[in-house]
Amino acid sequence: MEGFAGKVAIITGAGRGIGKALALSLSEKGARLVLNDLDPKPLLETQNLAKGETVGVSGSVSNTEIGALLTKTAIEKYGTIDLVATLAGYTWDSMLHRMDQTQWNDIIDVHLNGTYSVVQPAFSAMRHAALSEKESEILIKPRKILTVSSMSAFGNLGQANYAAAKAGIVGLTRTAAIEGAAFNILSNSIAFGPIDTRLTRPRESQNEWVGDSAQGIPEKARAAYFSTLPLGRPGTIPEAVEPMLFLLSSHANYISGTLLEVNGAAHIS
Ligand SMILES: NC(=O)c1ccc[n+]([C@@H]2O[C@H](COP(=O)([O-])OP(=O)(O)OC[C@H]3O[C@@H](n4cnc5c(N)ncnc54)[C@H](O)[C@@H]3O)[C@@H](O)[C@H]2O)c1
Repeated sequence: MEGFAGKVAIITGAGRGIGKALALSLSEKGARLVLNDLDPKPLLETQNLAKGETVGVSGSVSNTEIGALLTKTAIEKYGTIDLVATLAGYTWDSMLHRMDQTQWNDIIDVHLNGTYSVVQPAFSAMRHAALSEKESEILIKPRKILTVSSMSAFGNLGQANYAAAKAGIVGLTRTAAIEGAAFNILSNSIAFGPIDTRLTRPRESQNEWVGDSAQGIPEKARAAYFSTLPLGRPGTIPEAVEPMLFLLSSHANYISGTLLEVNGAAHIS
Protein backbone atom coordinates (compact mmCIF):
# COMPACT_ATOMS: atom_id res chain seq x y z
CA MET A 1 0.00 0.00 0.00
CA GLU A 2 1.46 3.36 -1.07
CA GLY A 3 1.38 6.67 0.71
CA PHE A 4 3.31 6.13 3.94
CA ALA A 5 6.69 7.54 2.86
CA GLY A 6 7.77 10.21 5.33
CA LYS A 7 4.67 9.85 7.52
CA VAL A 8 5.27 10.03 11.25
CA ALA A 9 3.56 7.30 13.25
CA ILE A 10 3.31 6.63 16.98
CA ILE A 11 2.71 2.94 17.70
CA THR A 12 2.26 1.47 21.17
CA GLY A 13 2.72 -2.20 22.05
CA ALA A 14 5.29 -2.39 19.25
CA GLY A 15 7.50 -4.99 20.92
CA ARG A 16 5.42 -8.02 19.98
CA GLY A 17 2.52 -9.35 18.01
CA ILE A 18 0.33 -7.10 15.90
CA GLY A 19 2.01 -3.84 16.99
CA LYS A 20 5.44 -5.12 16.04
CA ALA A 21 4.22 -6.29 12.63
CA LEU A 22 2.46 -2.98 11.99
CA ALA A 23 5.61 -1.06 12.93
CA LEU A 24 7.80 -3.14 10.62
CA SER A 25 5.33 -2.87 7.78
CA LEU A 26 5.05 0.92 8.10
CA SER A 27 8.82 1.30 8.34
CA GLU A 28 9.21 -0.87 5.23
CA LYS A 29 6.92 1.60 3.46
CA GLY A 30 8.99 4.59 4.51
CA ALA A 31 7.23 5.84 7.65
CA ARG A 32 9.19 7.41 10.50
CA LEU A 33 8.28 5.88 13.83
CA VAL A 34 7.98 6.58 17.52
CA LEU A 35 7.58 3.16 19.10
CA ASN A 36 6.52 2.17 22.59
CA ASP A 37 6.37 -1.00 24.61
CA LEU A 38 6.30 -1.84 28.28
CA ASP A 39 9.28 -4.15 27.79
CA PRO A 40 12.48 -2.45 26.58
CA LYS A 41 14.09 -5.60 25.12
CA PRO A 42 11.43 -6.55 22.55
CA LEU A 43 11.00 -2.86 21.80
CA LEU A 44 14.68 -2.62 20.90
CA GLU A 45 14.39 -5.77 18.76
CA THR A 46 11.61 -4.10 16.74
CA GLN A 47 13.69 -0.95 16.40
CA ASN A 48 16.66 -2.98 15.17
CA LEU A 49 14.51 -4.75 12.58
CA ALA A 50 12.91 -1.53 11.35
CA LYS A 51 14.27 -0.18 8.06
CA GLY A 52 13.91 3.57 8.49
CA GLU A 53 14.07 6.15 11.27
CA THR A 54 12.70 5.00 14.61
CA VAL A 55 12.88 6.14 18.18
CA GLY A 56 11.79 4.03 21.14
CA VAL A 57 10.07 5.10 24.34
CA SER A 58 9.66 2.22 26.77
CA GLY A 59 7.24 2.28 29.69
CA SER A 60 3.60 1.69 30.48
CA VAL A 61 0.97 3.57 28.51
CA SER A 62 -1.08 3.71 31.69
CA ASN A 63 1.48 6.24 32.89
CA THR A 64 0.24 9.59 31.50
CA GLU A 65 3.84 10.85 31.37
CA ILE A 66 4.65 8.12 28.82
CA GLY A 67 1.64 9.10 26.71
CA ALA A 68 2.75 12.72 26.72
CA LEU A 69 6.37 11.74 26.02
CA LEU A 70 5.36 9.89 22.84
CA THR A 71 3.82 13.05 21.39
CA LYS A 72 6.70 15.22 22.61
CA THR A 73 9.25 12.84 21.07
CA ALA A 74 7.44 12.77 17.71
CA ILE A 75 7.24 16.56 17.56
CA GLU A 76 10.84 17.12 18.70
CA LYS A 77 12.34 14.48 16.43
CA TYR A 78 10.15 14.73 13.35
CA GLY A 79 8.17 17.98 13.77
CA THR A 80 4.75 16.39 13.23
CA ILE A 81 2.42 13.46 13.91
CA ASP A 82 0.44 11.88 11.08
CA LEU A 83 -0.65 8.54 12.51
CA VAL A 84 -1.28 7.02 15.94
CA ALA A 85 -2.01 3.34 16.51
CA THR A 86 -2.57 2.03 20.02
CA LEU A 87 -1.82 -1.67 20.46
CA ALA A 88 -0.39 -1.89 23.98
CA GLY A 89 -2.29 -4.37 26.07
CA TYR A 90 -2.69 -7.76 27.67
CA THR A 91 -5.39 -9.87 29.26
CA TRP A 92 -6.05 -10.92 32.84
CA ASP A 93 -9.16 -13.07 32.68
CA SER A 94 -11.46 -14.55 35.24
CA MET A 95 -15.15 -15.07 35.72
CA LEU A 96 -16.90 -12.01 37.14
CA HIS A 97 -17.73 -13.70 40.47
CA ARG A 98 -14.00 -14.29 41.04
CA MET A 99 -12.59 -11.07 39.54
CA ASP A 100 -10.74 -8.94 42.05
CA GLN A 101 -10.36 -5.19 42.09
CA THR A 102 -6.69 -5.29 41.01
CA GLN A 103 -7.55 -7.34 37.93
CA TRP A 104 -10.31 -4.91 37.04
CA ASN A 105 -8.20 -1.79 37.65
CA ASP A 106 -5.09 -3.04 35.86
CA ILE A 107 -6.91 -4.00 32.68
CA ILE A 108 -8.97 -0.79 32.58
CA ASP A 109 -5.72 1.05 33.20
CA VAL A 110 -3.69 -0.43 30.36
CA HIS A 111 -6.42 -0.52 27.72
CA LEU A 112 -8.80 2.36 28.41
CA ASN A 113 -6.66 4.80 30.42
CA GLY A 114 -3.61 3.80 28.35
CA THR A 115 -5.38 4.55 25.08
CA TYR A 116 -6.54 7.89 26.46
CA SER A 117 -3.06 8.79 27.73
CA VAL A 118 -1.57 8.27 24.26
CA VAL A 119 -4.42 9.59 22.12
CA GLN A 120 -5.20 12.77 24.09
CA PRO A 121 -1.84 14.56 23.68
CA ALA A 122 -1.45 13.31 20.10
CA PHE A 123 -4.96 14.52 19.22
CA SER A 124 -4.17 17.88 20.75
CA ALA A 125 -0.95 18.20 18.71
CA MET A 126 -2.74 17.14 15.51
CA ARG A 127 -5.49 19.70 16.12
CA HIS A 128 -2.90 22.39 16.73
CA ALA A 129 -1.11 21.55 13.47
CA ALA A 130 -4.41 21.57 11.57
CA LEU A 131 -5.28 24.99 13.01
CA SER A 132 -1.97 26.36 11.76
CA GLU A 133 -2.68 24.95 8.29
CA LYS A 134 -6.18 26.49 8.39
CA GLU A 135 -4.79 29.89 9.38
CA SER A 136 -2.19 29.70 6.61
CA GLU A 137 -5.00 28.78 4.21
CA ILE A 138 -3.23 25.63 3.12
CA LEU A 139 -4.98 22.32 2.73
CA ILE A 140 -5.48 20.59 6.07
CA LYS A 141 -3.85 17.21 5.67
CA PRO A 142 -5.54 14.08 6.96
CA ARG A 143 -4.19 12.82 10.28
CA LYS A 144 -5.26 9.50 11.69
CA ILE A 145 -5.92 7.83 15.00
CA LEU A 146 -6.47 4.07 15.04
CA THR A 147 -7.34 2.44 18.34
CA VAL A 148 -7.66 -1.26 19.02
CA SER A 149 -10.86 -2.66 20.42
CA SER A 150 -11.94 -6.30 20.36
CA MET A 151 -14.89 -8.57 19.72
CA SER A 152 -14.86 -8.88 23.50
CA ALA A 153 -16.26 -5.33 23.62
CA PHE A 154 -19.64 -6.95 22.88
CA GLY A 155 -19.22 -9.13 25.99
CA ASN A 156 -17.06 -12.21 26.45
CA LEU A 157 -16.89 -15.01 28.96
CA GLY A 158 -14.24 -14.37 31.60
CA GLN A 159 -13.37 -10.91 30.33
CA ALA A 160 -15.57 -8.36 32.14
CA ASN A 161 -12.56 -6.09 32.67
CA TYR A 162 -11.22 -6.37 29.12
CA ALA A 163 -14.72 -6.15 27.57
CA ALA A 164 -15.49 -2.95 29.49
CA ALA A 165 -12.15 -1.38 28.54
CA LYS A 166 -12.44 -2.35 24.87
CA ALA A 167 -16.02 -0.98 24.73
CA GLY A 168 -14.81 2.26 26.34
CA ILE A 169 -12.13 2.61 23.68
CA VAL A 170 -14.87 2.71 21.02
CA GLY A 171 -16.58 5.66 22.75
CA LEU A 172 -13.29 7.52 23.07
CA THR A 173 -12.47 6.86 19.40
CA ARG A 174 -15.83 7.99 18.08
CA THR A 175 -15.69 11.15 20.19
CA ALA A 176 -12.24 11.91 18.76
CA ALA A 177 -13.81 11.42 15.31
CA ILE A 178 -16.58 13.92 16.08
CA GLU A 179 -14.29 16.52 17.66
CA GLY A 180 -11.54 15.95 15.09
CA ALA A 181 -13.67 16.15 11.95
CA ALA A 182 -13.30 19.92 11.49
CA PHE A 183 -9.54 19.43 11.62
CA ASN A 184 -9.42 16.46 9.23
CA ILE A 185 -8.44 14.14 12.08
CA LEU A 186 -9.89 10.74 11.20
CA SER A 187 -10.39 8.43 14.15
CA ASN A 188 -11.32 4.77 13.84
CA SER A 189 -11.18 1.60 15.87
CA ILE A 190 -10.67 -2.01 14.91
CA ALA A 191 -12.31 -4.91 16.73
CA PHE A 192 -10.25 -8.04 16.32
CA GLY A 193 -11.57 -11.50 16.84
CA PRO A 194 -8.89 -14.00 17.84
CA ILE A 195 -5.55 -13.25 16.19
CA ASP A 196 -2.69 -15.70 16.54
CA THR A 197 -0.44 -14.02 19.12
CA ARG A 198 0.56 -14.91 22.67
CA LEU A 199 -2.82 -13.55 23.79
CA THR A 200 -4.66 -16.41 22.07
CA ARG A 201 -2.09 -19.24 21.81
CA PRO A 202 -2.55 -22.21 24.15
CA ARG A 203 -1.68 -21.04 27.63
CA GLU A 204 -0.21 -24.44 28.56
CA SER A 205 2.33 -24.48 25.74
CA GLN A 206 3.84 -21.05 26.31
CA ASN A 207 5.25 -19.28 29.33
CA GLU A 208 4.18 -15.71 28.65
CA TRP A 209 3.40 -13.48 31.59
CA VAL A 210 2.49 -9.87 32.14
CA GLY A 211 2.88 -9.30 35.87
CA ASP A 212 0.80 -12.01 37.58
CA SER A 213 -1.22 -12.83 34.50
CA ALA A 214 -0.42 -15.80 32.26
CA GLN A 215 -1.17 -14.90 28.66
CA GLY A 216 -2.99 -17.28 26.30
CA ILE A 217 -6.21 -19.26 26.41
CA PRO A 218 -6.51 -22.66 28.11
CA GLU A 219 -6.35 -25.32 25.38
CA LYS A 220 -9.87 -26.71 25.92
CA ALA A 221 -11.59 -23.32 25.99
CA ARG A 222 -9.56 -22.26 22.98
CA ALA A 223 -10.66 -25.24 20.88
CA ALA A 224 -14.30 -24.69 21.85
CA TYR A 225 -14.07 -20.98 21.00
CA PHE A 226 -12.43 -21.47 17.62
CA SER A 227 -15.00 -24.12 16.67
CA THR A 228 -17.71 -21.42 16.88
CA LEU A 229 -15.97 -19.23 14.30
CA PRO A 230 -17.33 -19.61 10.76
CA LEU A 231 -13.78 -19.38 9.40
CA GLY A 232 -12.76 -22.00 11.97
CA ARG A 233 -9.38 -20.55 12.86
CA PRO A 234 -7.75 -17.50 14.40
CA GLY A 235 -6.55 -14.72 12.11
CA THR A 236 -2.88 -14.42 11.33
CA ILE A 237 -0.86 -11.37 12.29
CA PRO A 238 -0.65 -10.18 8.63
CA GLU A 239 -4.45 -10.57 8.39
CA ALA A 240 -4.71 -8.18 11.34
CA VAL A 241 -2.15 -5.70 10.02
CA GLU A 242 -3.52 -5.28 6.47
CA PRO A 243 -6.86 -3.76 7.55
CA MET A 244 -4.96 -1.47 9.92
CA LEU A 245 -2.79 -0.30 7.04
CA PHE A 246 -5.93 0.38 5.02
CA LEU A 247 -7.48 2.54 7.75
CA LEU A 248 -4.20 4.43 8.21
CA SER A 249 -3.71 4.92 4.48
CA SER A 250 -4.93 7.55 2.03
CA HIS A 251 -7.46 4.97 0.77
CA ALA A 252 -9.44 5.66 3.95
CA ASN A 253 -9.50 9.47 3.91
CA TYR A 254 -13.33 9.52 4.04
CA ILE A 255 -13.64 6.96 6.84
CA SER A 256 -13.95 8.18 10.40
CA GLY A 257 -15.82 7.09 13.52
CA THR A 258 -16.06 3.50 12.34
CA LEU A 259 -15.48 0.24 14.18
CA LEU A 260 -14.06 -2.26 11.70
CA GLU A 261 -14.61 -5.85 12.75
CA VAL A 262 -11.87 -8.29 11.72
CA ASN A 263 -13.17 -11.44 13.26
CA GLY A 264 -13.44 -14.54 11.07
CA ALA A 265 -17.12 -13.78 10.39
CA ALA A 266 -18.04 -14.27 14.05
CA HIS A 267 -21.38 -12.45 13.75
CA ILE A 268 -22.84 -14.82 11.16
CA SER A 269 -22.43 -17.97 13.25
N1 LIG B 1 -4.52 -11.24 19.66
C1 LIG B 1 -5.84 -11.11 19.68
O1 LIG B 1 -6.58 -12.07 19.48
C2 LIG B 1 -6.47 -9.79 19.94
C3 LIG B 1 -7.87 -9.68 19.80
C4 LIG B 1 -8.48 -8.46 20.05
C5 LIG B 1 -7.72 -7.37 20.39
N2 LIG B 1 -6.36 -7.51 20.54
C6 LIG B 1 -5.61 -6.34 20.96
O2 LIG B 1 -4.54 -6.11 20.06
C7 LIG B 1 -3.50 -5.43 20.77
C8 LIG B 1 -2.17 -6.14 20.50
O3 LIG B 1 -2.25 -7.44 21.05
P1 LIG B 1 -1.35 -8.68 20.55
O4 LIG B 1 -2.26 -9.80 20.34
O5 LIG B 1 -0.43 -8.24 19.48
O6 LIG B 1 -0.55 -8.98 21.91
P2 LIG B 1 1.03 -9.10 22.22
O7 LIG B 1 1.13 -9.53 23.63
O8 LIG B 1 1.68 -9.93 21.18
O9 LIG B 1 1.53 -7.60 22.04
C9 LIG B 1 1.11 -6.59 22.93
C10 LIG B 1 2.30 -5.75 23.35
O10 LIG B 1 1.81 -4.74 24.27
C11 LIG B 1 2.78 -4.57 25.27
N3 LIG B 1 2.19 -4.01 26.48
C12 LIG B 1 1.45 -4.65 27.42
N4 LIG B 1 1.14 -3.81 28.39
C13 LIG B 1 1.68 -2.60 28.08
C14 LIG B 1 1.70 -1.34 28.71
N5 LIG B 1 1.11 -1.13 29.89
N6 LIG B 1 2.36 -0.31 28.09
C15 LIG B 1 2.99 -0.50 26.91
N7 LIG B 1 3.02 -1.70 26.28
C16 LIG B 1 2.35 -2.73 26.86
C17 LIG B 1 3.34 -5.97 25.51
O11 LIG B 1 4.63 -5.90 26.15
C18 LIG B 1 3.38 -6.53 24.10
O12 LIG B 1 4.65 -6.37 23.51
C19 LIG B 1 -3.90 -5.42 22.24
O13 LIG B 1 -4.51 -4.18 22.54
C20 LIG B 1 -4.95 -6.51 22.31
O14 LIG B 1 -5.86 -6.30 23.37
C21 LIG B 1 -5.72 -8.68 20.30
